[in-house]
Amino acid sequence: MKKAIIVGSTGVIGKEILKIFRQDYQVVEVNRSSGDFKVDMQDAEAVEQMFQAIGGFDVLIAASGYGKWGTLEEHSIQDFHDGLNSKLMGQVNLVVIGRKYANEGAVFILTSGVLAHQPMIGGLSLAMINAALESFVKGAALELEQGMKINAVSPSFAKETMELMGLDSSTGVPAIEFAKIYKKIIDERKTGQVYQA
Ligand SMILES: NC(=O)c1ccc[n+]([C@@H]2O[C@H](COP(=O)([O-])OP(=O)(O)OC[C@H]3O[C@@H](n4cnc5c(N)ncnc54)[C@H](OP(=O)(O)O)[C@@H]3O)[C@@H](O)[C@H]2O)c1
Repeated sequence: MKKAIIVGSTGVIGKEILKIFRQDYQVVEVNRSSGDFKVDMQDAEAVEQMFQAIGGFDVLIAASGYGKWGTLEEHSIQDFHDGLNSKLMGQVNLVVIGRKYANEGAVFILTSGVLAHQPMIGGLSLAMINAALESFVKGAALELEQGMKINAVSPSFAKETMELMGLDSSTGVPAIEFAKIYKKIIDERKTGQVYQA
């Protein structure tokens, strides 16, 4: 059975991805506070140790990471760094370190977000992080070895997240619809793509 590592498997989107991938894959769950491996993806040393322990894998999905929600006025310089270290560099760590351990033809799927292309007041940290992440995916796709592939999913706004935030969720997309795209990416066998979800 092929092995899929899911970082963020307890999240709103990640738990739906988990349900789908469990059907066909041996899944390794990774989060900071629970799972088969408790790892903060922004800690490169811990990420390396995790991959050493897991060994080869066929799919790595990251649906994880933090970026501050708040206006420019509410952002300190440290807030920008915190988001870059978490959502951007955390996912970059998983690819740059993980590719050394990945099986031939492995697929990496990272998660960006709609704010990269549709800025909103309060979303400037995430806009910056998501755009950088998508550019990383396009650049890395040109260089990954051994038939490996890398793509990103750019979710809009999950219905469940809107409900958690106390917002009107009528325009939200159920997280399961995002999760289906992660599976579709594996089947399509493309690389360097950003899938708007
Ligand atoms: N939900 C949306 O509407 C939406 C829209 C656009 C983009 N996105 C993006 O999609 C991704 C997932 O969103 P979500 O709403 O599903 O998130 P969520 O519900 O907050 O869950 C985040 C998941 O990632 C894990 N995690 C967080 N930081 C981590 C780290 N540094 N290292 C390892 N695991 C970490 C969390 O577990 P622990 O807390 O145990 O670590 C949890 O499993 C995020 O990057 C988010 O920006 C979400």
